[in-house]
Amino acid sequence: MNREDFSLLKQDIIYFDNGATALKPNVLAKSTSDYYNLYSANAHRGDYDMSIIVDAKYEETRGLVKEFIHAKDESEIVFTSGATDSLNKIIFGYYKNILTEKDEVLLTKSEHASNVLPWFELRDQLHFKIRYIPLDQEHKVTLENLKTVLNSNTKVISIAHITNVVGDIRPLKEMIAYAHEQNVTVVVDGAQSVAHMPVDVQDLDLDFLAFSAHKVYGPTGLGVLYGKKELLENMQPIFFGGGMNASFSSDGIRLYDDLPYRLEAGTQNIAGVLGFGSVLKYLKNIGMDKIQAYERDLRFYAISKLKEVKEVILYNENSESSIITFNYDSIFAQDLAIYLNKYQICVRAGSHCAKILKDEFQIKNTCRISFAFYNTKEEVDKFIDILKNPNIRNEII
Ligand code: ALA
Repeated sequence: MNREDFSLLKQDIIYFDNGATALKPNVLAKSTSDYYNLYSANAHRGDYDMSIIVDAKYEETRGLVKEFIHAKDESEIVFTSGATDSLNKIIFGYYKNILTEKDEVLLTKSEHASNVLPWFELRDQLHFKIRYIPLDQEHKVTLENLKTVLNSNTKVISIAHITNVVGDIRPLKEMIAYAHEQNVTVVVDGAQSVAHMPVDVQDLDLDFLAFSAHKVYGPTGLGVLYGKKELLENMQPIFFGGGMNASFSSDGIRLYDDLPYRLEAGTQNIAGVLGFGSVLKYLKNIGMDKIQAYERDLRFYAISKLKEVKEVILYNENSESSIITFNYDSIFAQDLAIYLNKYQICVRAGSHCAKILKDEFQIKNTCRISFAFYNTKEEVDKFIDILKNPNIRNEII
């Protein structure tokens, strides 16, 4: 649906790599060009008209993000450069100050590198223990499995809402309720979820949420860090400079700004923030419920079609998101991706930055298709026709 809103779709391509980044609606280019051509001032620094326009639009986007994820207050929305930046700020700006060597952090083996490597780095500094919540036979997390590893030393659970390879939607509400009963906080990597389903941080009672704008049809180089206000109040900036201080003197006495500005040092990605605002208005008009229902239907359709191809090995048939992970019998995943590219079909192949998932999957490389709301059943049919080509192996070799 809404294909006409995406200029790039006028090209003869089938874009099934939305988990890596989504295509951008035309409103993004328009608002980015308006910023650069009509009012290209800095934000929160000037007293002239252009700067005041920029300030208003910048803060309007913060309000739109607040509404998009249903945060309680705009001061809980911090702009970052992406989900990776948000997670690093959460881990090094908040948890670095509260974890000790007797503590435990819970992850899973299907997490993306951005939700694993910062924890490894911090563990090397603080010597706490990292444990993995066991996954079930379908590589999913369950509340029961969480209960087997959460103990009185657990201080934080850090997990994706939707994982980028298994594509399972984690039962966050029940996991978070249980974690909170034990005084454990929960960090959620929303990189693969917020573009595909309604996410309500208050309803889920999330402590922290990280996501990137570029996967939400927005600009690259922009992300969001959401944190409950009482937690953000205790987060230390890990970057210091202009735009985040109220005053400082030559003897080193300094006073930092209120939230969220003290966590946004330096000139921010203003064009990105303004552009993201136009994208969020666009998505609001469509409706995240409608997007989720459309993509779910497309997923079921694609799974049923993939099952018609006997050489296809599906790894996440029963996941609920628009991510489908598979291999084609005896064809290396990347070779298949390169072959599909001949037909202008874009898929991702490899380990998808989830490099410890191989412990669970017993296989390192897979192909992944990941839908957005502009994908169609006709595109799925063309993709399936190519997979059904009886000469596919010969053509690849
Ligand atoms: N994290 C992105 C993906 O899963 C890049 O493809």
